[in-house]
Amino acid sequence: MATIYTETVLTVRHWTDTLFSFTATRDPGFRFLSGQFTMIGLQVNGRPLLRAYSMCNANHEEHLAFFSIKVADGPLTSILQKIQPGDALLVGAKPVGTLIQDNLLPGKTLYLLGTGTGLAPFASIIKDPDCYERYDHVVLAHGCREIAELGYGEQVVAEVLGDAFLGEIAQGKLLYYPTVTREAFRNTGRITTLLETGKLQSDLGLPPLDREHDRVMLCGSPGMLEDLNALLTGKGFMEGNHHEPGHFVIEKAFVEK
Ligand code: A2P
Repeated sequence: MATIYTETVLTVRHWTDTLFSFTATRDPGFRFLSGQFTMIGLQVNGRPLLRAYSMCNANHEEHLAFFSIKVADGPLTSILQKIQPGDALLVGAKPVGTLIQDNLLPGKTLYLLGTGTGLAPFASIIKDPDCYERYDHVVLAHGCREIAELGYGEQVVAEVLGDAFLGEIAQGKLLYYPTVTREAFRNTGRITTLLETGKLQSDLGLPPLDREHDRVMLCGSPGMLEDLNALLTGKGFMEGNHHEPGHFVIEKAFVEK
């Protein structure tokens, strides 16, 4: 069995100077759980150069989708940002990751909290009917510096709600909360502050955070994860993993160093 598939880039969309998304063909043998990541990349000087990327497509979808940062001097993303439809894309055959449903205890509301490209695993999760079967509400909070950076998340949410099958299931359950920190918008401020003050919950008509009924998935920068980890731990939430499900799970956004 192949350890790395060679796929073909299908579409590329640039959202800002620093963000782009793309889709690619998917080997029928490539299976994963919504929320997982794998290594993807390109042949560079005759060798595979791979980085961790969360799949943004649902596990039932025919094509792969990814959301990436562009780093000017990043070994991979400085090249990856120039890909075009028809180009080859390397996709590692061993998906992994902690942002999976079985790592969480049963609950009523699932909070998906992401900053920047930390949205990526949640794009996959909100396209999976499974999350709407498990929870009464699925909150997708996406924090960015500027409005333009919200574009990919807005598109994914519109796709979910506009889908003939998924839209019906997600309607009223999927609560989207985009927020920006560096310009005026309908929601502003860091996710941490919005959760701590309870503004996010009250804007959505939800009760204060409580480990009895709330479950949380986190994906973002190390600072964001640290702050939210402290906030949740302070409220008695326990971190879950593959051995023992908990009240919250963490994955860092895979920013290229
Ligand atoms: P801010 O503009 O106040 O730094 P970045 O692009 O740096 O990863 O930031 C993405 C978003 O995450 C920004 O809105 C940023 O807010 C926010 N952010 C940065 N650090 C934290 C943190 N420790 N907790 C919550 N949000 C954060």
